[in-house]
Amino acid sequence: MPEENINELAARVRQLEESLIRREEELRRSQKLASVGLLLSGVAHELNSPLMSVLGHAQILLADTPAGSQLHTDLAVIEMESKRCQRIIKNLLAYTRKQEQKPVWTDLNKLVLEILELKAFDFRRSQLAVIQDLSRGPLPVFAVPGQIQQVLLNLLNNAEQAMQPKGNIRVQTRREQNDVVLSVADSGPGIPPEVRARIFEPFFTTKEAGKGTGLGLSICAEIAERHGGRLSVESEPGRGACFHLRIPVPEVESAESPAGPSRGLVLVVDDEENLLALTRRALQQAGWTVEGYRDPAQALEALRRKRFDVVLSDFIMNGLNGDAFYRLAIEARPELARRFILCTGGDIEEARAVLDEDGVPVLQKPLAIDEFDAAVSRLRSAEGAGAGA
Ligand SMILES: Nc1ncnc2c1ncn2[C@@H]1O[C@H](COP(=O)(O)OP(=O)(O)O)[C@@H](O)[C@H]1O
Ligand SMILES: [Mg+2]
Repeated sequence: MPEENINELAARVRQLEESLIRREEELRRSQKLASVGLLLSGVAHELNSPLMSVLGHAQILLADTPAGSQLHTDLAVIEMESKRCQRIIKNLLAYTRKQEQKPVWTDLNKLVLEILELKAFDFRRSQLAVIQDLSRGPLPVFAVPGQIQQVLLNLLNNAEQAMQPKGNIRVQTRREQNDVVLSVADSGPGIPPEVRARIFEPFFTTKEAGKGTGLGLSICAEIAERHGGRLSVESEPGRGACFHLRIPVPEVESAESPAGPSRGLVLVVDDEENLLALTRRALQQAGWTVEGYRDPAQALEALRRKRFDVVLSDFIMNGLNGDAFYRLAIEARPELARRFILCTGGDIEEARAVLDEDGVPVLQKPLAIDEFDAAVSRLRSAEGAGAGA
């Protein structure tokens, strides 16, 4: 075997080895974080009842003790501190309950601007300049808005604490291949390597008691992972720190993406398998890309995850009728109001009457592709007129 081939092979093996080690590290970290979340919620629940008992008894004693006495003052301290513990527990429980929140399509820039506005006063007071370097135009992400904002808030708070009394923070958003990236860079002292190795560990802090809990970054990293992304840091001592939150964008953004000769993505809902297959074939033949569902609930899930150019729904279905499906669909994605078409195997006038005011076209089944195309162009011109008005 020629020498250059062997060298090439050796390099490739090294590359694979490195990526394996990285994967292992990521896996270990995500497992650790998941178990910490469970542990935290368990401990918080366990602490809550004895704490309520301490607080309750302190309050009973307080009521029986003359105001102004030393005992009264001491009991008031117990009461105050127990309440503080309760607040901490409440926060911990709120953190661990995050998984119940649902992701939605949202604009990352909008989330960022809301938080910057929230912090504007703090920053002015502590003489920190914030440089906004946001992508031009909206940056759609599929995410839990509150969690993304929590990450940004934590990163900003860390930067603020690291830099006082003065400095600047650059907040950047951008699209990078299939990821949306949010970066927070500060001009503070940076993070020495031995500290950097541990900052994502729960309870790791270099701050004095009362100032840091060491939970901020571990929670941010867990949030990143729940979004299928990751949180990373770059820092050299003396040169500030820069954190990157990277979230992948789910596939198929819109028909504009150069995904081949497709005319667009159509979601079809029909609870009768044969008719669904028939509609699918007719649309595909005419150049549309089709995603078909027999279950309206699953179709709704898909609508929340993805953008569709047209939604074509049966009128009478098992479980959820076409008009109810329409209402839920536009609740999830208002822009679908002008991309929705109903088809019915029954009385077309009856179906028309139900959604007449909403201007939803109704077609007869089995689907005639020229009728479908005509309905789509009517909707598009209405959409254009609506947008221009
Ligand atoms: N922007 C930053 N500059 C310097 N050090 C940082 C920065 N952000 C985080 N750190 C380091 O990471 C540690 C962990 O951060 P975090 O998990 O948010 O916990 P906490 O802020 O409560 O200490 C901090 O104590 C600090 O040493
Ligand atoms: Mg912190």
